[in-house]
Amino acid sequence: MSDNRLIVFDTTLRDGEQSPGASMNLTEKLEVARALELLGVDVIEAGFPITSPDDFEAVRAVARQARRSGVAGLARCVPEDIDRAAEAVAEARRPRVHVFLATSKIHRKFKLRKARGEILRLAVEGVRRAKAAVADVQFSPEDAARTEPEFLAQVVEAVIDAGATTVNIPDTVGWAMPEGFRALIEYLFEHVANIRRAVIAVHCHDDLGMAVASTLAAVQAGARQVEVTINGIGERAGNAALEEVVMALKTRPEAFSGCDTGIRTELLHPTSRLVSRVTGLAVARNKAVVGENAFAHESGIHADGVLKERTTYEIMDPRAVGLAKSQLVLGKHSGRHQFRQRLRELGFRLADKDVDAFFFGPFKELADRKKEIFDADIAALVETETVRVPETWRLCGFQVATATGGMPTATVELEEAATGRRTRDAATGDGPVDAIFRALERITGVALKLADYQIRSVTAGKEAQGEVRLEVRLGERTLSGRGVSTDILEASAKAYLGVINRVVARRNGKAPRPPSRRRPRRRTRTAKPST
Ligand code: KIV
Ligand code: ZN
Repeated sequence: MSDNRLIVFDTTLRDGEQSPGASMNLTEKLEVARALELLGVDVIEAGFPITSPDDFEAVRAVARQARRSGVAGLARCVPEDIDRAAEAVAEARRPRVHVFLATSKIHRKFKLRKARGEILRLAVEGVRRAKAAVADVQFSPEDAARTEPEFLAQVVEAVIDAGATTVNIPDTVGWAMPEGFRALIEYLFEHVANIRRAVIAVHCHDDLGMAVASTLAAVQAGARQVEVTINGIGERAGNAALEEVVMALKTRPEAFSGCDTGIRTELLHPTSRLVSRVTGLAVARNKAVVGENAFAHESGIHADGVLKERTTYEIMDPRAVGLAKSQLVLGKHSGRHQFRQRLRELGFRLADKDVDAFFFGPFKELADRKKEIFDADIAALVETETVRVPETWRLCGFQVATATGGMPTATVELEEAATGRRTRDAATGDGPVDAIFRALERITGVALKLADYQIRSVTAGKEAQGEVRLEVRLGERTLSGRGVSTDILEASAKAYLGVINRVVARRNGKAPRPPSRRRPRRRTRTAKPST
């Protein structure tokens, strides 16, 4: 690889999965891993194998599936963690073990209760142990950005001597300012004698909204691996967003001495949508690169400018990130062939038989309700259908009565999929949506605690479909649901019933399943060691 070719290390499946409410099952992880590989990611960090049997299996399955990308498993500097991670990635074509140990004073004193010397010793032993199992070993001094630079340099030098091929410098808590972070990387290049024997990576969190800026500043200082996630998901405020880092490098090469990545940028949009769908984490409309508004021009002056010459107000070509130009696509008279073709253009890789069996019918129903079907409608429809969980309960219909000053009442009818038996019940609530949720709970016997409810229109106009995304708490877990309909009450009912079906599926040991895919194993997650 040339000196200017950056390694893209994607941690959507590990740090990204640490986003509250974002856990993915095995099938979903494999689907995301496939998409990451197609996107051109160099290394996929697939999970933290010691944390649970499911995490271990997921890393192993990704390792077996990966053709081109390397696959990394995370491990604390503990022998059992390292051995487990090495075992999980063993079948990858390019296996990597990623060992981490905190080095900052605050972590040494309060979390680890260890002195510098012991940290140094453990780091070296951890790397040596990993090295005995795999050739490609990455070490991360956790909370590096708050570590005393001279101690950090000592650790980096020692782990490279012990065999680390990549040393990652994490801004674990998003504390760094881009200038300071650049200076830290420059300091390491000046003070670590053997630094050219390893790749220097960076991993920045977004607590102060600096993750992408700090990552790019580090590239200017010589870092050659960027650790990122799709849509910037990750612990707390998330990680540096892959799409933003990649497009900054591509759009402003002169600012980064021509450094580039192997990412196929035209797959950024489909990959972003996939990750949003499987994690249930919506992408903000104004999110750079992949947000819905990223290429929308509202002001007349801007729209006029773009029509005359696109580059007046667009610094990136929407097609370069996978956004089709045409927005108006299909209608009531569109046939199967047109529908399949549009799905392919939107980045959905589905078998024709699945398109016919699962999506064409709902598309026709939607076309009956809505004259014009836009790209976003099609994406919403496919994404809703694909994350279908085994449906214990189906919504047959509902009726809502509400009046100013009155008590909203909802009557809901559900069908039990296994028996075809229909049940109707009614409930009152604080509002019509609440009444529907209560009626659903009465029929199914599943009581949930709503933690978040958001509604937005999928496209513009009076006929637009409404998308409801919600999160519920079930004990310690957060589950997310999504429903789309031209009727927002129906979208709400579908989203809530989706979560109820998910809960029932979990209780029965059945996880969500996309069409014509194998049923994944049951998820039995234990508490994760803190990273
Ligand atoms: O944020 C962090 O420090 C991490 C490490 C495990 C690299 O995620
Ligand atoms: Zn992290």
